[in-house]
Amino acid sequence: MKTKNINDLKDFSGTVLVPVFETSAKNLIPIQFGTVSISSKVFYGKKDSYYLAEDNDNIYLFIGLGKKDIDYKSLKTIFRRVAANQKEAFTKCVGVSFPTEFKEQEVEAAISGLLLGTYSLGHYKKEVDHPFLDPEFELKILATVDFSITINKAIKIARAQLETLSLVDLPPNKVTPGYLAKWAKDRGNRYGFKVNVLDREACEVEQLGAFLAVGKGSNNEPQFIIMNYEPNKPTENLKHIGLVGKGITFDTGGINIKTAGMLDMKSDMAGGAAVFGAMQLIADLQLPVKVTAIVPCAENSVSSKSFLPSDVIKSYSGNSIEIIDTDAEGRLILADGLSYLIKNFDPEYIVDIATLTGSSIGTFGHECGALFTDNEIIADALRKTGDSIGERLWPLPLWEAYTEDIESAIADVKNYSGKPVAGAISAAKFLQFFTNKHTAWAHLDIAGVAYGNDEFSKSKHASGYGVHLLTKFIENL
Ligand code: BES
Ligand code: ZN
Ligand code: ZN
Repeated sequence: MKTKNINDLKDFSGTVLVPVFETSAKNLIPIQFGTVSISSKVFYGKKDSYYLAEDNDNIYLFIGLGKKDIDYKSLKTIFRRVAANQKEAFTKCVGVSFPTEFKEQEVEAAISGLLLGTYSLGHYKKEVDHPFLDPEFELKILATVDFSITINKAIKIARAQLETLSLVDLPPNKVTPGYLAKWAKDRGNRYGFKVNVLDREACEVEQLGAFLAVGKGSNNEPQFIIMNYEPNKPTENLKHIGLVGKGITFDTGGINIKTAGMLDMKSDMAGGAAVFGAMQLIADLQLPVKVTAIVPCAENSVSSKSFLPSDVIKSYSGNSIEIIDTDAEGRLILADGLSYLIKNFDPEYIVDIATLTGSSIGTFGHECGALFTDNEIIADALRKTGDSIGERLWPLPLWEAYTEDIESAIADVKNYSGKPVAGAISAAKFLQFFTNKHTAWAHLDIAGVAYGNDEFSKSKHASGYGVHLLTKFIENL
C-alpha cells in the first residue's frame, strides 16, 4: 500500500473513511464532515457502528470508534474489520480522515489494521485481490499533521505480520523446512540481514543432536536457520539480542502420535514465523541494534527412521537427553537452538518464542502468552510492550522445585516429567537447563495465542502474535 497526504477533498473523488469517536446519543449536535451532516440519532460514533453517505459523487464511510480511551489492539481491529468487510464501499480511490485526537500510536494502529484487513486465508482460491493490494493503489491521508513517518512504520509492521500469517497458515506440504530456509534467504537479501542455513549434513558436523533427532522421521530435510542483522550504518555499543523460534513445520507427535489436535499442528512453527517476521521488520526499520536469530526447522514425523521414546540422545551442549515422549519435541530443537546461539554468538539478551505446550493453553486459554524469566527488567519490558499493543504476556515461575521434573535416571536430563501437571513450567525448566545460566533470557510459550478462531475467517488461522512484540521490545531496550 502506498499513501499520499492531501490537504482537502477538492480534487478527490472516491470513498472517504471517517472514523469518529463516540458522542452522546442524546447529544443532538449532528456529526459533521465537510458538507455531510448526520443526525446523532442515526449515528453517533458508537463502537463498530457504520454510516454510509453520498455527497458530490463521493462516498463517506463513517466508522464508530466508541470511547476515546480505546486501546491499540481494539482500534487496529476496527480498521482491519473495515478493510476486510467493507470492500464494496471502496471505489478506486480511498481516503482516510483521522480525528484530531489521533496521535502517532492511533495512526499506527489504524494504518496497520487497514493493511492487515487485506489478508485472506484463501491462499488456494481464485479470488480477486483486495483493492488495497493493487500496485497502483494509493491511500489518501487527510490530516493537518504530517504523520508520514508513523504511516511508513505502520505499513512495515503490517507487511511483516502479513508474511507471518502466510507462513503459519500455508499448509505443511508447502511450508517445509526447505521452504522456510528459502524464505529466510530471500528476505535476508531483500531487507538486509545475513542468513546461514545448516542442512542435515552440516548439522551432523556441528553435532546438533537434539535438533537432528526430531527431524529424523521425515523426508523433508531439517534446516537450522541462522540470521544476523546489523544496521547499514552501525554505531558503537549496539545492544545484541538473540532470538530463537520453534520451527516445527508439522507436529504429528512422532511415535507418541497425537490423539487430539493434530489438525492444527501446521501452526507449530508460529514461534519461528514470529522470529522471521520480526527479522524482516527489524531490518526494514533499520533499528540500531544487533540481532542474531535462530529458527531450527524440522517436521516431527512418524516413520521407521523416527526417534523413539526411551532413546537417549546427545545435544549440542554435550548433555544427554532421555526421550520420554517424542511429542515433547519443541524443547529439544530449542535446546540446541539456545545452546548454539549462546556458544557461538553470546548475545546480551535472549528471547525464545514457541508454541510449546498444551499446558500453557490450559492455564491461560487464548488471552495471553506465558512468560518465563528470572530477569525482572526483561519481564517488565516484555509485559509493558505486550500490553501496549494487545499482545499480552503473564508470568509463570521457574522455581528450583520444578527441576526434579526433568531429572533422568539414565541421562543428564529428560524431556518430559511424565506427569500431567505443570507442563508449561517443566518445559521452561528444560529450556533453562540449556541456557548456560544466562541472566537475561526469557521464554515465551505462545501455544494459546498464535493460532485460533476469530472473526476474520471461518476456520482457525494465524494471529501474527509476536512479530510486533519482539520488534517493539527490541526497539525499546
Ligand atoms: N506443539 C505442541 C504444543 C501445542 C499444543 C501447541 C496445542 C499448540 C496447540 C507440543 O509439541 C506438544 O506436543 N506438547 C505436549 C508435550 C507433552 C507431550 C509433554 C503437550 O503440551 O501436550
Ligand atoms: Zn509435540
Ligand atoms: Zn510441537
